[in-house]
Amino acid sequence: MSPAEEKKKVRVVSGIQPTGELHIGNYFGAIKNWLALQEEYECFFFIADYHAITEEWNPERLRENTQRMVLDLLACGIDPERAVLFVQSHVPEHTELCWVFNALASYGDLLRMTQFKEKREHVERTQEFVSVGLFDYPVLQAADILIYHGAKVPVGEDQIQHLELTRRIARRFNARFGAYFPEPEPLLSEAPRIMSPAAPEKKMSKSLGPKHYLALFEPEESFWEKIRTAVTDVGPQGGTMSPGVANLFLLLKLAAPPEVYESFRTEYDRGTIRYAKLKEAVFEHLMGVLRPIRERRAQLTEADARAAMERGAAQARRVAEQTLREVRRRIGVGPVGP
Ligand code: TRP
Repeated sequence: MSPAEEKKKVRVVSGIQPTGELHIGNYFGAIKNWLALQEEYECFFFIADYHAITEEWNPERLRENTQRMVLDLLACGIDPERAVLFVQSHVPEHTELCWVFNALASYGDLLRMTQFKEKREHVERTQEFVSVGLFDYPVLQAADILIYHGAKVPVGEDQIQHLELTRRIARRFNARFGAYFPEPEPLLSEAPRIMSPAAPEKKMSKSLGPKHYLALFEPEESFWEKIRTAVTDVGPQGGTMSPGVANLFLLLKLAAPPEVYESFRTEYDRGTIRYAKLKEAVFEHLMGVLRPIRERRAQLTEADARAAMERGAAQARRVAEQTLREVRRRIGVGPVGP
C-alpha cells in the first residue's frame, strides 16, 4: 500500500455546531482545514445538533440551522464522495455511547473543564439554569470521536482539554474491558485568527453582532460595507501594525496571490499605502474565493440536504452500530443475540 493509501485509512473525526450563519473566520479556520483533510484521511464530519441543546434553543431554528449547515458545507466543497457528512442526532448510537462513557468519566475531571466553567458563568447570567447537558458536553464529544475509532481530531486550542478527557475515557474503557478504543490525537492546524472588522482587537464572532463578522453568504453590498468601514489607523505608525490593518493584511494573504499581498506590504513599509485601495483589494480577492462557493450554494435545495443527510447517516450508522454492539457485549448490557 502506498503512503497515501495508508493515510486514507487513518480516521479523522470532527464536529461543528449548527450556529446559523457561517462567517469567513469559520471558513478560513475550520472548514478549509476540513477540505484539505478529506483529501488525505478517512473523514467523519458531522453537525453537532445534540451539543446545541446544552444551552437554550429554539426547535425550529435548530432544525433550520442544521439543514443550512449541511448545505453550506456542501457548497464550501465538503464532498460526500470523499467524506462522511452527517447529522449527529441521526446516529442515535452517539448518545447511547455517551451514557456508557458517563459511567467511565470522572465527575471531578468534568468539573475542571475550562469550557464548562466559562459557559456556566455565561449561562448562569443569561438563562434559567445550567443544564446537566452542558456539564456532560465533553463526554458526548468523547463518544462522537471514539464511536468511529477516530485517531485524529482537528480542533482548536480550546478543545485540547476535551480531547485529553476523551483519551482518559478510552484508557479507562480499555483497562476495564480490554483494548478496544484508540487514544485520539489532536490535529492542530494553525488556524488564522481573523478579527472583527469593527473592533479588530476582538476575534471575529457572531455573538458580537452583525458588524463584527463577514458572513459567507451575505449580500455583496453589506459585505463590502463592513470592509469599507473596517477600523484602520491614520497611517503607518512605524513599529507595530495596528490590529485593524493587520487584519486586512491577513485577509489579503488568505485570499489573494502572494504578489498582490507583497506589493501592498511594500507600500505599507514605504508609508505610501492607501487603505481605501487595500480594502478594495481585500474585497475583490475575498469575493474571488467566495463567488464560486456562493454560486454552488444557490444551486442547492432542501432535497439536496435531505439526500446528503440520509446518505451520511446510513454510512456513519454502519460503523456506529458495530461499535455499540461490541461495547454492549463487553460491558454486559443489551440483548444477547447471534
Ligand atoms: N465541541 C466542538 C466545538 O465546539 C464541536 C464538537 C462536538 C466536536 N463533537 C466533536 C469537535 C467531536 C471534534 C470532535 O468546536
